[in-house]
Amino acid sequence: EESKKNVANLMKEFLPEEIYKILLTAGSLAEEMGYGVYLVGGSIRDLLMRKPSPDIDIVVEGDGIAFAQELSKIINGKVIPHRRFGTAKILIEIEKNGEVKRFSIDIATARTEYYESPAALPKVETSSIKKDLYRRDFTINALAVKLNTKDFGLLLDFFGGQRDIKDKKIRVLHNLSFVEDPTRAIRAIRFSEKLGFKISKHTENLIKLAVKMSIFEKLKGPRLYEELILLLKETLPHYSVKRLADYGLLKILHPSFDEKLFNELVKAHETVQGMELLFLKEKYRKEFIYLVVLLWNLKSHEREEFLKRICAPENVKKQLIENITSAEKALQNFPSEESFLEVYKLLSSLNIETIILMMIYAEEQQKRAISIYLTKLKEIKPLLRGEDLKKLGIQPGPVYKKIFDEILKEKLQGRLLSKEEEIEFVKKFGK
Ligand code: CTP
Repeated sequence: EESKKNVANLMKEFLPEEIYKILLTAGSLAEEMGYGVYLVGGSIRDLLMRKPSPDIDIVVEGDGIAFAQELSKIINGKVIPHRRFGTAKILIEIEKNGEVKRFSIDIATARTEYYESPAALPKVETSSIKKDLYRRDFTINALAVKLNTKDFGLLLDFFGGQRDIKDKKIRVLHNLSFVEDPTRAIRAIRFSEKLGFKISKHTENLIKLAVKMSIFEKLKGPRLYEELILLLKETLPHYSVKRLADYGLLKILHPSFDEKLFNELVKAHETVQGMELLFLKEKYRKEFIYLVVLLWNLKSHEREEFLKRICAPENVKKQLIENITSAEKALQNFPSEESFLEVYKLLSSLNIETIILMMIYAEEQQKRAISIYLTKLKEIKPLLRGEDLKKLGIQPGPVYKKIFDEILKEKLQGRLLSKEEEIEFVKKFGK
């Protein structure tokens, strides 16, 4: 069921003006080079849903890299080619009202198979857009819009993507989709959560069948990490994880993951929301908080193994493990009496992600103390500096730290509000 719909007007209305112009340019270049050129992927889905779209993906029936290089010359971009994959990224900076906006455009050569090997690249050139779309994950992501000037804006819908967007359905294109790429099961849940769509009965059955057939043993590698992170980025991570469990995918991620995690994720979610309402100036990545909640009850070697299996980047792995260890340790050493100074000393050396973790697993009295720290104590520090102490005639040495600690202690109890008061205090302190 091919449609003859033209969406050029929608594109003009919903894409940034600069991008729209570039697409027109790409269309006339396509004519010149004799290639078929298409806008594909999530941006068409977003366009039909009248939503802004973050990324621009283009597929070329022809030499994608050559096309990218020509286009980049015209629009003054910078090309980063990936010869192995026949793809290229164009980076552009556009100045508008004194502001520099950065865009990137991904350009690929039309492919027939998901896992086409680099050696097979020449075959690629004969491949068509329809075959390229057929190897994609879901019908809603398998739409394309032709950019060639002659047909600019023509919507290509070979697999019922428009209907599924209208019916709010996530549907695979063929029965082997999850065999081809098991991470698509996680994507199905993510799109379902993000867009408010239902996974079709048939597609659901295919996921369950794949679980039964142990297809998901192959569920590992960097794609798994990326998809898991994207899933946890969606607004309600406990729902997403609940749905992984419904399909039997949670146990596949790790055999000791179970329903108990939902409650902990709910707590984590409430904590994260509370933070957003109350204190948060500092940036942190909430998906990492949720990932750590998944890991929290594992033994330490199991955490390492899990992060390794999903191919979390080395620096992320190190940071997450460090956060867990520091949070556990800080909770064990949490001052029992309500001493602001002690609380301050404990928490001021920790990063915000660690403190949020502590908040999730803390007891009530500890939670109160952490809140006070974040809302009040955190910003407090002596106004005097080392050079001020020097001017007061105090010899530099370990005594400086003592003095600053004493000033801090006073300030943490609401005293010494000005620099003068601090100076007075230091003068008395020496005696
Ligand atoms: N794709 C796929 N199988 C995957 C990953 C991606 O078939 N495991 C295809 C999809 O058709 C998708 C395209 O590659 O449209 C680009 O992937 P990605 O950028 O992850 O998805 P978007 O649809 O652009 O989603 P989002 O809006 O979340 O970026």
